Amino acid sequence: MRVLGIETSCDETGAAIYDGEAGLLAHAVYSQVALHAEYGGVVPELASRDHVRKTLPLIREVMGEAGLAAGAIDGVAYTAGPGLIGALLVGAAIGRSLAWAWRVPAVAVHHMEGHLLAPMLEAPAPEFPFVALLVSGGHTQLVEVTGVGRYRLLGESLDDAAGEAFDKIAKILGLPYPGGPALARLAERGDPKRFEFPRPMTDRPGLDFSFSGLKTFTLNTLHAELPGTGNSDQLKADVARAFEEAVVDTLVVKCRRAVRETGCRRLVLSGGVAANRCLRERVDLMMAAEGGRSYYPRLVFCTDNGAMIAYAGWQRLRAGEQVALGFSPRARWPLDSLPPVGA
Ligand code: KG4
Ligand code: ZN
Repeated sequence: MRVLGIETSCDETGAAIYDGEAGLLAHAVYSQVALHAEYGGVVPELASRDHVRKTLPLIREVMGEAGLAAGAIDGVAYTAGPGLIGALLVGAAIGRSLAWAWRVPAVAVHHMEGHLLAPMLEAPAPEFPFVALLVSGGHTQLVEVTGVGRYRLLGESLDDAAGEAFDKIAKILGLPYPGGPALARLAERGDPKRFEFPRPMTDRPGLDFSFSGLKTFTLNTLHAELPGTGNSDQLKADVARAFEEAVVDTLVVKCRRAVRETGCRRLVLSGGVAANRCLRERVDLMMAAEGGRSYYPRLVFCTDNGAMIAYAGWQRLRAGEQVALGFSPRARWPLDSLPPVGA
């Protein structure tokens, strides 16, 4: 079964074709970074309009790359939420219409299920069960995964998502949007010993996260130190480093706890923040010490992309799932409300 996947939930347009036997045949991502950069963040209306411009050309591109004509597609998967509603509507309308025109089934994919299953596009793919840390711009969640659609939420952020905290601190430090990667680059020049920032909620039991206090602490440190500093560039790098260390450490502590509590020895990391090198290194060390191992998607599949949607859609379509013509996208959509796939 060959599935076309379409992703338009935020500021990246993605398209890909996944074949159940041959694997991923083609994928392409168009990033709207340049469009939103001058506003310092994503402008939803501009995002929707750009998806309108880019989605069909991108689909044509991946069909061409895979050497396929329309009749060779057996199903269409599109991101139906969570995300920006206007942006979701573009991919949903295009995906659902193409499936109707091609007389093939369509399936509405949950964006976070896409992220969660993305490491399965790599070799070796993690086997079930595993624990997943989903860290993106909108979500920070720990999930116990026993199969496709079998998700038990272990913990999540009570306020800001990890990526959102990266983006906000980056903005305060005067870094360009998108902030996460820029902050990580700046942090490489920072002195890890200059500041020690708090590791929120690690001193009490549970698997929830909170990053808003750390954000305030970071802001206060910067304001307290700035007036007396002769080298504000170095100060900013040192603050970025302390912030990154605190976020990474907090995520690692909670991952270790989740692995111990569930007894799973496989940990999957996905979502934009899983592209963070420091996080990947620390998680690898932690999992090796726990006698297990960690799995990640390649960097382009950590951030938003069509391949993860094609793959998640293939998993559901081959099990017979499909959506009616009238299905509406959902800006909010709890991951653990998805139906399980298979027996
Ligand atoms: O998964 P994603 O592309 O979009 C959402 O579904 O939200 O994640 C984007 C988030 C942004 O907050 C971005 O700053 C963050 O991932 N991010 C990073 C890095 N690369 C992307 N954060 C920290 N370090 C990175 N290297
Ligand atoms: Zn995402």
